[in-house]
Amino acid sequence: MLTGERVRLREWRESDIAIVQEAASDPLIPLITTVPRLAGEAAARAFVRRQHDRLRSGEGYAFAIADHDDRAVGHIGLFRAGDARASVGYWIGPSQRRLGYAGDALATLTRWAVTREGIDRVELYVEPGNEGSWRVAERAGYEREGLLRAWKRIDGRPRDMYIYARLTESGRLSSGRV
Ligand SMILES: CC(C)(COP(=O)(O)OP(=O)(O)OC[C@H]1O[C@@H](n2cnc3c(N)ncnc32)[C@H](O)[C@@H]1OP(=O)(O)O)[C@@H](O)C(=O)NCCC(=O)NCCS
Repeated sequence: MLTGERVRLREWRESDIAIVQEAASDPLIPLITTVPRLAGEAAARAFVRRQHDRLRSGEGYAFAIADHDDRAVGHIGLFRAGDARASVGYWIGPSQRRLGYAGDALATLTRWAVTREGIDRVELYVEPGNEGSWRVAERAGYEREGLLRAWKRIDGRPRDMYIYARLTESGRLSSGRV
């Protein structure tokens, strides 16, 4: 478990399915994550189980973002993206936005991620129009490195993505930017 100023990042629980169902009704989240669209209870429980599987399989770390009352408000995960790279993804349930949760969750996850052995950089990909997300990234010390044109198909259409990255200590040493 990781503790921030406003949030705690903890394991997903079956009792968290209300926020998964809320996220399932968001126009964007089901298109860019494994949250199923318009999830019933069984599908929301399956989402929770998948997060535990990701940890067991070594694919990455998936955390529920919980508020002061331990109520899940969103999701954040760190996944292996290559040799010594990791990537971050996150979402906040529509009713819980603009309360600083994503910003604190990303800052908290990043503080932990940059201390992990064998990771030189942590990346995230954001559509240019998703201002909330790139503000969250910049606030957590990620730098915009460029625009990847037609990087990913979302909803059947090629989309441009900003790539953001934050170097870990080993990454900064090797790139000469100490
Ligand atoms: C993007 C998202 C995670 C932001 O979560 P949030 O908890 O509302 O963000 P925060 O409250 O921590 O806000 C962080 C900053 O972004 C700004 N912000 C948040 N949403 C914004 C929006 N829609 N438009 C402009 N700015 C926004 C806040 O004002 C704040 O700015 P500040 O740091 O200058 O004070 C949330 O809107 C979401 O889940 N969207 C759908 C899924 C998604 O886009 N995931 C990211 C994919 S790359």
